[in-house]
Amino acid sequence: MTRTETEESDVKAKPADHVKIFDTTLRDGEQAPGFSMATDAKMVVARALEALNVDIIEAGFAAASPGDAAAISAIASEIKGPTICSLSRLNDKDIEASAKALEPARHKRIHTFIGTSPLHRDAKLKMTKDEIIEKIGRLVAFAVPLCDEVEFSPEDAIRTERDYLIEAVNTAIEAGATTINIPDTVGYTTTEEIADLFRFLKENAKDADKVTFSTHCHDDLGMAVANSLAAVRGGARQIECAINGIGERAGNCSLEEAVMALETRKDFFGLGTQIDTTKIYPASLALSRVTHNPIPRNKAVVGKNAFAHESGIHQHGVLANKRTYEIMDAESVGMPANSIVLGKHSGKHAVRARAEALGFKISPQKVEDIFPAFKKLADTTREVSDAQLIKLVTGNSVVD
Ligand code: KIV
Ligand code: ZN
Repeated sequence: MTRTETEESDVKAKPADHVKIFDTTLRDGEQAPGFSMATDAKMVVARALEALNVDIIEAGFAAASPGDAAAISAIASEIKGPTICSLSRLNDKDIEASAKALEPARHKRIHTFIGTSPLHRDAKLKMTKDEIIEKIGRLVAFAVPLCDEVEFSPEDAIRTERDYLIEAVNTAIEAGATTINIPDTVGYTTTEEIADLFRFLKENAKDADKVTFSTHCHDDLGMAVANSLAAVRGGARQIECAINGIGERAGNCSLEEAVMALETRKDFFGLGTQIDTTKIYPASLALSRVTHNPIPRNKAVVGKNAFAHESGIHQHGVLANKRTYEIMDAESVGMPANSIVLGKHSGKHAVRARAEALGFKISPQKVEDIFPAFKKLADTTREVSDAQLIKLVTGNSVVD
């Protein structure tokens, strides 16, 4: 692919760093109908996120409920790799609730937000521009001593006037926010528009080189991943995303798609992530299992069909050279190679190998224990799926 001159200079202008992955599966993701998670379900996902090596886990919204605060504290007590974050509206009670829930964390981030677009100011908040600016300055400063770092989001940033957006952003930076997140709250933007907005912020914000600009895109028009990647082209260095793309309404930017796009097209983007991509499929299955929501068959990167070839022409091409119809390897996202199909002829070694490839360390005794049930199941189906195997291993139900 040939780049335009502008694109070429964008890549050169980028410092040699990586894009931080801020996972919001446990906050924005669980806000979606059908994805609510109790503490033990959140713990399963948090462990999968730690194995993925995400930079930040947004573990919940502490003020939303005592249960959510408890889940954040449980995650903060056990998960020591990534920074743990809690969301707060821009008020002292929410911020204090986040600080309390985050107490056990090794590294704590408070993420606070307020609407800045005309619709949010007039219809929802009924506040003037000046009142909102005053609140940003006062409450971001209030949050700073209560944690290790503060992230500020002007909600509905995309539909906020640019001069007002920069005023809000500069006020948050002056008050001590070190990450500025630019939400496309309603999934309204386009790739060129968002790239241009990030370039504008990088050029005009106070101390722009000292803060991390972050993108948070919703998928109402199916453009969340494309818009997040365009934001990176414009200077964003944090992507907010969720496993399987779950989130409010049509969802958030999908973690697996954004990460694999950056990794597969490093030649184009010029920078990658710190994600262990081989843990992507196990994380996707874990979320599916604990929320009882299936992974769509045709889902990019993690769907059952993502690496499957049915038509003769494609099968011929792939047999001659995999790269004819595959731009990445199934194994690179932790999907066991298709050659290991579990059926009624499979033995204990294959069962164990497949379970381990899916991230489950199982003892020889455990294989002995589940093997009779495996054989019984295999007699009823042509192929035992990954979801069915995980159900046997964990005793948990998984939607296939
Ligand atoms: O979509 C959004 O605006 C949000 C904010 C709370 C960051 O989720
Ligand atoms: Zn959101």
